[in-house]
Amino acid sequence: MTNKKNLKQKLKTSIEFSKNLFITGAITETSRKVEIEICKHIPIDRDVTVVEFGMGHGNITKAILDKISPNSNLYAFEVNGEFCDYVRKSIPDDRLTIINDGAENMINHLHLKIDCVISSIPFSFFSKEKGMGIIQDAYNFLPYGSYFSQVLYTKFNFKKFQIIFDDCEIIKFRSFPTEYIYHCQKTID
Ligand SMILES: C[S@@+](CC[C@H](N)C(=O)[O-])C[C@H]1O[C@@H](n2cnc3c(N)ncnc32)[C@H](O)[C@@H]1O
Repeated sequence: MTNKKNLKQKLKTSIEFSKNLFITGAITETSRKVEIEICKHIPIDRDVTVVEFGMGHGNITKAILDKISPNSNLYAFEVNGEFCDYVRKSIPDDRLTIINDGAENMINHLHLKIDCVISSIPFSFFSKEKGMGIIQDAYNFLPYGSYFSQVLYTKFNFKKFQIIFDDCEIIKFRSFPTEYIYHCQKTID
């Protein structure tokens, strides 16, 4: 994408995110550094099934698709129907299944083994019950050794992940706004 097109696209995303602030929890897309870091634990030595929570306009979605093998799959959850339509048009990829529903309903849609969860949903805007429910359901779906990686603008939700996951690491990016990535591993069978 050219710089001008890129800038126009970013501006469009910021406008859409701001219009839906209480659902998106953000006014801009996460940074390129975050797109790379959040995909760090996706296995690349085999075909995998990845689940994304909070697809937005698909910037992390694209980074995941760039990383996974040709026979892998990505299931992306997004509550905003317009964002789903946008990504359906802008990222035509047979490996991508878009689910226009909340992460809290994942058990109604996923009937297969998954290998990794990549998430940018705004936990700070969820009730404790809803947030913990999403983390616990994801933990139950994930196999031993796998990761749930989450990006947020705050470290305050880290504790919720530490309660459920066995091994958690937090990484701080001094961007504006500051971004935190939580890498949470299931190490117990
Ligand atoms: C902070 S934006 C992140 C968008 C994009 N992935 C990025 O990194 O820039 C969070 C996204 O999560 C979506 N979202 C909010 N609550 C959700 C939920 N319960 N399940 C799935 N998506 C949700 C919002 O509509 C929004 O698109």
